[in-house]
Amino acid sequence: MRVVAIIPAAGSGSRVSGDVPKQFILFNNREMISYTLEVFQNSEVIDEIIVATSGQGRDILHAIKERDGLTKLTKIVDGGLERQDSVYNALKEANLAFDDLAVVHDAARALLPPEVLARAVATAKEKGSALVCQKARDTIGFLENGDLAESGNLSYIDRNKVYLVQTPQIFRYGELTEAFERAYSEGWYGTDESTIMRRAGYPVFISDGSALNFKITTDEDLVIFSKLVAGRV
Ligand code: CTP
Ligand code: MG
Repeated sequence: MRVVAIIPAAGSGSRVSGDVPKQFILFNNREMISYTLEVFQNSEVIDEIIVATSGQGRDILHAIKERDGLTKLTKIVDGGLERQDSVYNALKEANLAFDDLAVVHDAARALLPPEVLARAVATAKEKGSALVCQKARDTIGFLENGDLAESGNLSYIDRNKVYLVQTPQIFRYGELTEAFERAYSEGWYGTDESTIMRRAGYPVFISDGSALNFKITTDEDLVIFSKLVAGRV
């Protein structure tokens, strides 16, 4: 059974300021995505890495592969309009067996702890899938229509029932491809693989995540990330 990382890295990073997409912003002279890829390159549980990216991203990725010695990075494929399209392009070019594991992970989660990855892969090997989640810690407020103007009507959800979904999201290649094809045939777009898999009726098993595995989304997140990697080479 092969275990292949699929890294969508074709977004534009519209919620951060900057001239390049956020995954290519430099920290200590290294692109954000180079920190992400390092985790997979160094992990004993990962056999191969495929990245989906677009435009100048392809050239940057080729340069990172050489500079960082990313021997596991076998394919750089075109990204798509939505994250789902980027992941699907990578799946189509992956050339895997039905039971091989696809480990989908956001390029923008650059501080995935190696033990979170290893634990999730172990869960997927045992149960057939793994979804890295963090249990909610804060009190969770809820507005029926999501409308701040109504916030006088705030109600609450029991936080013990709330899981914040991260990546990696790990599924059998054949099942994930089938679920994607079903979603496309119905014109349906999900924000992640787990929603697509649940919609297709597959079980999804939770594996413990980490606060360090946050998705670098805003300018504030860039500051947090830069402080966490300060001094690293
Ligand atoms: N992604 C992708 N292809 C897209 C959109 C997103 O591969 N068409 C990737 C991003 O590069 C990122 C991951 O999916 O690594 C998670 O998406 P997100 O954090 O939303 O990144 P962006 O879409 O780039 O940011 P924003 O939504 O703020 O524009
Ligand atoms: Mg996005």
